[in-house]
Amino acid sequence: MSDKVKTIGVLTSGGDSPGMNAVIRAVVRSGLGKGFAVKGIERGYAGLLNEEIHDMNSHSVSEIIERGGTILYTARCKEFYTEEGPKRAAEICKEHGIDALVVIGGDGSYKGALALSKYGVRVVGVPGTIDLDIACTDYTVGFDTAVNTAMEAIDKIRDTSSSHERCSIVEVMGRSAGFIAIACGIATGAEDILLPEEYDGNEQAIINRVIENRKFGKKHHLVINAEGVGHSTSMAKRIEAATGVETRATILGYLQRGGSPTCRDRFLGSLMGNHAVELLAEGKTNRVVAIKDNHLTDFDIDEALAMQKSVPKDWVQIAKNLVR
Ligand code: F6P
Repeated sequence: MSDKVKTIGVLTSGGDSPGMNAVIRAVVRSGLGKGFAVKGIERGYAGLLNEEIHDMNSHSVSEIIERGGTILYTARCKEFYTEEGPKRAAEICKEHGIDALVVIGGDGSYKGALALSKYGVRVVGVPGTIDLDIACTDYTVGFDTAVNTAMEAIDKIRDTSSSHERCSIVEVMGRSAGFIAIACGIATGAEDILLPEEYDGNEQAIINRVIENRKFGKKHHLVINAEGVGHSTSMAKRIEAATGVETRATILGYLQRGGSPTCRDRFLGSLMGNHAVELLAEGKTNRVVAIKDNHLTDFDIDEALAMQKSVPKDWVQIAKNLVR
C-alpha cells in the first residue's frame, strides 16, 4: 500500500439503519472534495469478497439523504471471520487500488475492519446501528429514527389497548441491549420496561402490577419488552391467565429499521461521514468515529471494541419513578 491514501472504499455492513445513506453521501462528497477517488462496495464484506465494487461520483449520492436503508445494500458475512476472508479481501482492495475503507456498521463490522487492517488496508469505522450498543460513542446513526418509529407505533397500540382495557406487551429491537426499550418505555409512559441488562425474570411482579393498576382504575397496562428478553407471546398468555386481563403481544420487528431518517440521523450521519474522511486525510487509520459529550471524536478500534456500555441505572430508576 502506498503511504498516502488515494482511493477510499465505502461499505455498509450488518443490520441497516436509517441515516446510513447520509454517511455514505458525506464520505463520497468529502472524499472527492479532498481529492480522493471513492469506490462504493455493495453488500458489505460479502460484496467485497465478490468484487461488487464501483466508482462513485458526486451524482451517485444525489437524492439519497432522505432515504431509509442503504443504497450500498448490506449483508452479514460469515466468511469474513475466517482466516482466509480478510486476507483475500485485502488482496481485492489492492487489485482495485483501494487503500482505505470506511465501514459503516456496528461492533461486528469493526471486528471485520480490524482483521482487514492487519493486511495493510487503512480502516475507519462509523457507528451505524439502531441499537445504540457501541460502547465508545454516545450516538449511533439510526437510533433516533428507530425510537421515533417505535414510539409512534406504541402510541397507536396504546389507543386500542385502552379502548379494550387490555394489557399490551410490545417487543422492540435492540439485540442484547435495552437502549431502544428504555427510550421508548420512558417516552410512552410504559408501566413496565423489561431490559436484558436488568430483567430478573420475575413475571409475578408484572402480574401484581397489572392487578394493582386495575384496582387503581388504570384502563390499560403497557409493557415494553426488549428483544434481548423476548418471549413476548408466551408472556402475554401467562399474564392473561394469571390476571384475567386480556393481554396481547406485538413484536414490532423490522419496521423499526426502515423509514426516512430523522434530522438527527441525517445531521449526525453527515458529520460522522465527513469526520471519517478527515481522519484518513490526516493519515490516521484503525479509528472509529464517535460522539462523546456532544463532540465528534474518534478511538482506536481495539480500544473501542474493549469498551462496555449498558443502559444507565438512573434511567431505569427514573422510568420506575414516573409511572407511579
Ligand atoms: O442490529 C440491528 C438489529 O435490528 C437488532 O436490533 C436485531 O437483533 C438484529 O439487527 C436483527 O438482524 P437481522 O436483520 O439479521 O434479522
